[in-house]
Amino acid sequence: MTTSQAAVSTLEDIAPAVKGSGHGHLLAFADTLTTAEKAAFARELAAIDWQTIPSVIKRYRKAGAAEAFGEFEPPVVCCVNGTKGDHGIDGKEARAAGLEMIRAGKVAALTVAGGQGTRLGFDGPKGTLPIGPASGRTLFEVFADQIKAAGDWAGRQIPWLIMTSPQNHGQTLAFFEERDWLGLDREQLRFFQQGVMPSFCPETGRLLLAGKGHLATNPDGHGGVVRAMSMSGELDRLEREGVEHLSYFQVDNPLVPPLDPVFLGSHAGAGGAPSSGQFSSKMVAKAAASEKVGVFARCDGKTRVVEYSDMPEALSNATDENGKLRFEAGSVAIHAASVAFLRSIEEAGEAALPFHRAFKKVPYMDVMKGTLIEPSEPNAVKLERFVFDAIPVAEQSLVLRVAREREFAPTKNPTGVDSVESARLMQSQRAESWLRERGHGVPGGCTLELSGEAAWADAAGLDYTPTASPKPGQAVVL
Ligand code: UTP
Repeated sequence: MTTSQAAVSTLEDIAPAVKGSGHGHLLAFADTLTTAEKAAFARELAAIDWQTIPSVIKRYRKAGAAEAFGEFEPPVVCCVNGTKGDHGIDGKEARAAGLEMIRAGKVAALTVAGGQGTRLGFDGPKGTLPIGPASGRTLFEVFADQIKAAGDWAGRQIPWLIMTSPQNHGQTLAFFEERDWLGLDREQLRFFQQGVMPSFCPETGRLLLAGKGHLATNPDGHGGVVRAMSMSGELDRLEREGVEHLSYFQVDNPLVPPLDPVFLGSHAGAGGAPSSGQFSSKMVAKAAASEKVGVFARCDGKTRVVEYSDMPEALSNATDENGKLRFEAGSVAIHAASVAFLRSIEEAGEAALPFHRAFKKVPYMDVMKGTLIEPSEPNAVKLERFVFDAIPVAEQSLVLRVAREREFAPTKNPTGVDSVESARLMQSQRAESWLRERGHGVPGGCTLELSGEAAWADAAGLDYTPTASPKPGQAVVL
């Protein structure tokens, strides 16, 4: 739901809308709350769109039949200078176009950082996790340094939009403020909160209380970013400023180039890229058929991301005549999107970005007894939106192949696969190959890391001389 809290300030104001939508039980303990608790509860309730909630509940109460897709075909994949049978893009032309977009102030960076990071179990917003293998820089700092380097090159402050959630907004802002906005100008940093969706019981269709003055909700998914940008005024602001495209990435990938001129130029159709300039994506070849990532596929004439769980196993395992996976294009959640396209997505609402339903265990207040119940089985429906549902809405959506070891180090778990450990190692390996590509030797036992300047120079195709050369066993930021 949205965060339009403008008109309502008290519980008395919001009560008629709550009761009118059939959820008066939520106010069962209202009289027992303190003044401060009442005000906080009123703010939570005001964030819900009471007019549409009954129809949303009706639609998602029962698990729908699996989405009926047409026949899946592999998508058209593009690749810089066209190898591996992909559609070739002229990398030089695409990069020149992307650099010009950045120089002209037509691009902003956008990070989705509203997730709960349940698997990581880190105490604090994920972006504040130290991740640099040599420097100990946090995820936010790794991105900030590259955005700063790009801005220094362009001679302008590149806006950086960061989506937080009601749960981590305050902590995120405090982190940036304590660290002097990570060397960026306060004005270029645009923090905005995503909305939340209330959980409901599928049997009764009733919303749940998480406490006597507290609604059971969850962040509305990374797809909530479009609505949140609109509600917070960020879309309007970008339009006013003449920003035309956004470089979208997740907070938990320290290898992502926050601003990639080749990708941005290709997205805008330069270098012969087949793109309508609305919504583009990067892909990496799946590590194995069983890797649990969404894959790009074409069906009904449109490119889309099919979730791992929706892909028939036979198709996940299917190979071509060379033994290559037919559906090898794994989604890495790196996109470029035009501001105009996001505006049209927002206007189309649920038709463009539908909700996805999950049946989960959600602790709730028994309104008759006034006690908190910890369910042992799933009891509630949670709804969220996925940003990749925008892909088939675009007229021609570009999918660009990139190398996993250069751009994708998901940080989901503390150890093991897709972890803090693996992300640190990948950054060091990436820096090592960067040095070797430039003809430098790499002594044994080093831990290396690209500085913001080095990483930006690499993405932009600029010359850069490392600030230090590593000695055996040293930890060095290049
Ligand atoms: P994930 O789906 O991996 O979720 O988010 P997560 O919260 O980071 O981790 P788990 O699943 O709880 O362990 C992918 C990206 O989307 C953002 C996250 O912050 C991350 O950058 N995201 C996710 C949001 O911004 N909002 C959401 O509601 C969900």
